[in-house]
Amino acid sequence: MIDVFPRESAHTWLDLVETTPSLVFDPEVCRHQWTDLSQALPGVTLYYAVKSNPYPGLLQTIADEAGCFDVASAAEIKMLEQQGVHPSRMIHTHPIKTDVEIEKAVAAGVTTFVVDNVDELWKLIPHRHAIRVMLRLSFIAPDAPIDLSRKFGAPQQDTLSILDVANDSGIRVDGLCFHVGSQAATANTHADALAVCLDLCQQIQAEGLPEITRIDIGGGFPAHYIGEAVDLTAFCAPIREVLTQVPDGIDILAEPGRVISAPSMALVCKVVGRAKRRDGWWFYLDDGVYGAQSGRLFDGMQYRMSVFTSSDELSPCVFAGPTCDSIDELGRYPEFPVLNMNDVVVLHEMGAYTLASATQFNGIAPPAVVTRDLPVRIQEYGSRS
Ligand SMILES: Cc1ncc(COP(=O)(O)O)c(C=O)c1O
Repeated sequence: MIDVFPRESAHTWLDLVETTPSLVFDPEVCRHQWTDLSQALPGVTLYYAVKSNPYPGLLQTIADEAGCFDVASAAEIKMLEQQGVHPSRMIHTHPIKTDVEIEKAVAAGVTTFVVDNVDELWKLIPHRHAIRVMLRLSFIAPDAPIDLSRKFGAPQQDTLSILDVANDSGIRVDGLCFHVGSQAATANTHADALAVCLDLCQQIQAEGLPEITRIDIGGGFPAHYIGEAVDLTAFCAPIREVLTQVPDGIDILAEPGRVISAPSMALVCKVVGRAKRRDGWWFYLDDGVYGAQSGRLFDGMQYRMSVFTSSDELSPCVFAGPTCDSIDELGRYPEFPVLNMNDVVVLHEMGAYTLASATQFNGIAPPAVVTRDLPVRIQEYGSRS
């Protein structure tokens, strides 16, 4: 999980950035991930989840691939419009929205919305002639560390009753959707949930309710932060098996975020402070959990690190971020080289839920972003893990 390199070789990374901390965005990696997932899920229309990383260069890269987008707010719609993306290429998938958010999205021209309860349906009644709706169902993946099926998603047994209400209210529900949780270890729950949705489509038809014409299998496709590289073709095999059972007339969508954005960026940091304390050496980096590394706290993520130092003295050590808060701790190691000031630390796979949730706490700015070729790309990680 941590590779140590000679300090002199840090120039490979430092030459790419003007300052630290900086995130380095590589459009080629982003394109590679997009193509890889598209090929692993043939016939599935991908909507990139903007929430995972709204960096304009990344949005533009996906837009140039003729990609579509999953948005959660009017602000995300605006970001996409600034990249020249027409709202017809967007779906609004936030299950809980304010009236103002709905009005803005409809005014912009977004026509697909998601609900998971009847109160949310009532909010859509004024716009019913302009929109189509997908009903989000809850399927919990036991192997996804970030659960998204407790906070959102109607129970499967409520499907027909919610669709009845929608029908009586003149709201066109033509889709089912789910999100099994982020960073799933397998696609088994995606596949099972898709199969359940196909069954539900038949029940919906038998009830005489309006036909379901699309099923959105959400996100959850993993990045390979540490350990083995993810083979997306192998990962998606269970989903492909169920895709063979999808009848004509039903389109399949997906909303990948992390798998596209995570590998597209690396974070270049420096040691800006160090101190020998009771529990060993503390090394303070210029980025921490209030910057691009909040995933350590929010999602329990660990990131692959490359450390560039000339030190060969070993000691117990603690990595910490630059803020005054005690929670801003990044990892403890029983034995690690005693780093020097300005030694360089590069964190890999840092594009997902990093920049998107970075704060200004203590007046410390989030990392800058530059667009460059990454010296080490995801295609090469497999052999190094
Ligand atoms: C509605 C929705 N779609 C897609 C995503 C993207 O998920 P992931 O990054 O796991 O692919 C999320 C993540 O929170 C989400 O809430």
